[in-house]
Order: sequence, then C-alpha cells, then structure tokens
Amino acid sequence: MNELVTLMSGTANSDLSNKIADYLGIKLCDMDVGRFSDGEIKVNINENIRGKDVFIIQPTFPPAENMMELLIMMDACYRASASRITAVIPYYGYARQDRKDQPRVPITAKLVANLIETAGANRVLALELHAAQIQGFFDVQVDNLFAAPVILEYIRGKNFKDLTIVSPDVGGIKMGRAFAKKLGANLAIADKRRTASDSSELMNIIGEVAGSDIIILDDIISTAGTITQAAEALKKAGAGRIMAAATHPVFSGPALERLEASCIEEIVVTNSIPYTGSEKCSKVKVLDVSELLGEAIRRIHTEESISMLFV
Ligand code: R5P
Repeated sequence: MNELVTLMSGTANSDLSNKIADYLGIKLCDMDVGRFSDGEIKVNINENIRGKDVFIIQPTFPPAENMMELLIMMDACYRASASRITAVIPYYGYARQDRKDQPRVPITAKLVANLIETAGANRVLALELHAAQIQGFFDVQVDNLFAAPVILEYIRGKNFKDLTIVSPDVGGIKMGRAFAKKLGANLAIADKRRTASDSSELMNIIGEVAGSDIIILDDIISTAGTITQAAEALKKAGAGRIMAAATHPVFSGPALERLEASCIEEIVVTNSIPYTGSEKCSKVKVLDVSELLGEAIRRIHTEESISMLFV
C-alpha cells in the first residue's frame, strides 16, 4: 500500500479496523470521533487527506449513530478534498426492508443507499448484503464480498462425513447450494413463514436429513428465532449433530439465550459486528474477515480484480 491510501475507522468495530490496518501494514488515520454534550456526533480529521484514496470502515448495525458516524465521516472527507471515498460496510444495516411487499411500507435499503451516496461515497465495499439486488440501489460501484471463503475453510477443518447444508428460508437456497457443492454435501430447506417482522413459524423440512450432520446456513442471526426453530425441526426429523453458520451476528433480543438453550452445538459467525455475548452464550465461534476486507481494499486501490476473493 502507498501513501495515497488513507484508512479510517468509525467507532462501531475498531477491533476489525485495527486488524485490517495490520493486514495492510498501514496506520489508521489520525482523527477524533466524539460527541457534543447533547450526543450529536463530532468528527475531526487530524491529517491532510487532500487527493487521498480514502477507505472508511464502519458497519451500520444499531444504534443508528453508527450510520450517522459513517455519513458524517464521509462528509468530512469530501470537504477535506479526498480524491475518492469508499464506504467499507462490513454489515449493511436496514437491508432487510428491501422491497415494497405490502402497502405503506418503506424500502429502507434504498433510503440508506441514497444517504450514503449523498454523503459523498464514490464507491462501496460491502460484505454479504442481505440481498444481491441492493447493489443496484446505488448509482456508484458496489463490491459485495461473501464470507464463504472464511466460513468454508473453518467447516472443512471439521471433517464432517455425512453433511447436509440447510437453508432456513427460500432466500438462502442459492448460497446453501454453493456451500453444498463446495463441501460435497447435500442440501435441504426449512420452509419458513414470517408471522411478523421479527418472528417466524417453521412449517416443514424439505429434503433428507435423518442421520446426517447439519449446518444451518444464514446471512444474519438476529433474534435467532429462525435458526433455533429450524434446529428443533431438524432434530425431530432425525438429524445428527447440528451446527449453524451466519455472516452477521446481529444477536438482538432473546438471541443469545435461545442459542445457548438450543440443540445447536456451535454457532459460527464473523467479526463483521463485534461479539460481546460470550458470558451468555459460549457456543459462538467468531471468524475473522479482516484479511478478506483488507485484500479487497488493497485490490480496489491498485485496480486489480477482486474476483479471486469469491472462490
Ligand atoms: C431473513 O431473511 C434473514 O436471512 C434471516 O433469516 C433473518 O434475519 C434471521 O432473523 P431471526 O434471527 O430474527 O430469526
């Protein structure tokens, strides 16, 4: 990396930002991200970034201040004459409302894309967007990485003999099929029906799972309702050992208690969002995506292809 690159971190996941900086062998930009006495966010960049290729690392999980921080940092970079601003968003919040599927509801994934562009992003580097079409909500280039290489490497190390990948909803079938193919595993589907925005009911397991070890694969674990209901249904259907894997550990509401009490032996997630719940749930294994994101940043800066990061 050269002196034209500036790497910045918001306060949402400084551990991940430090790891990315270590991978790239550069220091994070000297800046202050603080608060006014009423709580409003205050940003000061303490070094010259005129003409720099700036990468701002900030996942936008709740609270909404994480999003505001990202927007305000981009505005500061724009006004400081950065030559290019890339929003590096390891978790893209508000992504799940991505279409108008009932009357009088917003499309927050598009609203957030508009906000990010208006604040000055010239491009976006994301990790596992909830839906691939969110890339099209932006008029700037979006690279949407997948955590699959990191998760697959961990799963391979487990040496499963008879493995079935289970997608807990129809939206996850494509990813489930890709994992199953790479691992030489079978694919099954849990037929989930959403009863409210934060709750769901499991209807059926589609596919053979009896006697097989299972990995339930999802992009997000929020309340853990989806994944724990799928695990129960799989146990009833005669499945063997059950593990879960998801990129984004949102872990809201009763998630950790549910996971701890469930028949799932291990829950594999990434550090796209910091995990702070080890006292409540000891089954969570956090995999590091800093090299993946760091390598993508390096390649974007040097204008090399990033397609090798998808294998
Ligand atoms: C939904 O479409 C997502 O892929 C996840 O299945 C969902 O966000 C998980 O939510 P929860 O953990 O609250 O069931």
